[in-house]
Amino acid sequence: MKTINIQELPFRKRQAWLQYAVAPRPIAFASTIDKAGNVNLSPFSFFNLFSTNPPIVIFSPSRSGRNNTLKHTLINVLEVPEVVINICDYNMVQQVSLSSCEYAKEVDEFIKAGFTKQAATIIQPPMVKEAKIKMECKVNEVKSLGDEGGAGQLVIAEVLCMHVDDSILNEDATMIDPFKMQHVARLGGDYYALINEQNLFTVAKPNTELAIGIDALPEGIKNSKILTGNHLGQLANVQQLPEVDVAFEDVQLKNIIQYYSINPDEMEKELHRYASVLLDQGKVKEAWQVLLADENV
Ligand SMILES: Cc1cc2nc3c(=O)[nH]c(=O)nc-3n(C[C@H](O)[C@H](O)[C@H](O)COP(=O)(O)O)c2cc1C
Repeated sequence: MKTINIQELPFRKRQAWLQYAVAPRPIAFASTIDKAGNVNLSPFSFFNLFSTNPPIVIFSPSRSGRNNTLKHTLINVLEVPEVVINICDYNMVQQVSLSSCEYAKEVDEFIKAGFTKQAATIIQPPMVKEAKIKMECKVNEVKSLGDEGGAGQLVIAEVLCMHVDDSILNEDATMIDPFKMQHVARLGGDYYALINEQNLFTVAKPNTELAIGIDALPEGIKNSKILTGNHLGQLANVQQLPEVDVAFEDVQLKNIIQYYSINPDEMEKELHRYASVLLDQGKVKEAWQVLLADENV
């Protein structure tokens, strides 16, 4: 394994290692305004949600790694402590990237990147009409992480209200539908990721009841050469070790037992293989029944 001495690397290398590692990152498309009314629009992937009560998002317009200047977005929020955070989706990503050019302060990136201004309801900076999610925020605090080039400047923003486009809501309009939003995230270098039906998946929450944990799995399962860490994680996410369900019927399980009963080692492998297929389909109860068919468990 390669060990990277981050603190000793020159700026660009350090930035690359960190940004490739801490990924994917959501993209805040921040709209701000200065006292004179000049509007700025820039993307920031050093961004996330940090608190729900109060509702706080933080993004970081860093000091420039090249010449240590302050980003216009930072200068603006220091003058007018308000920001609209528009969330970047796939339909906007090329224009969002375009807006990150270092235009002079008086240049309006709404115009340069071809976005439409839409008045916010509470604060002064305009929203991006094309964005599907917009958050009107007041800036509670700006926390500087240093004075050198590349030093993060945390803009701690409280969400006052959110606007969500009808087109990305679920059927009964009670929540954002992740299949419709087409979120885009930034990774290292020029890499981005698109979230859509090809890569969305769910992980069952352990919730309030305690899961048995991997240490409590039977040895034969825990030490399986076939089941992966993900499979074990799913199996261990039960409140108690399941028992054989005599009512459980499964043709493939029957076939495995019939075919391999003369060879217990092979049977174990086949049961684990079949269980892994079921687990990949999210069928945890069924996978447990398959694994419990192994007499050694
Ligand atoms: C997708 C994307 C994400 C970015 N994330 C950041 C970031 O988190 N922090 C930062 O300082 N610059 C980031 N940049 C670069 C800024 O957007 C760029 O420096 C921009 O010109 C700043 O604009 P301003 O000076 O008008 O505020 C990012 C650029 C892109 C395209």
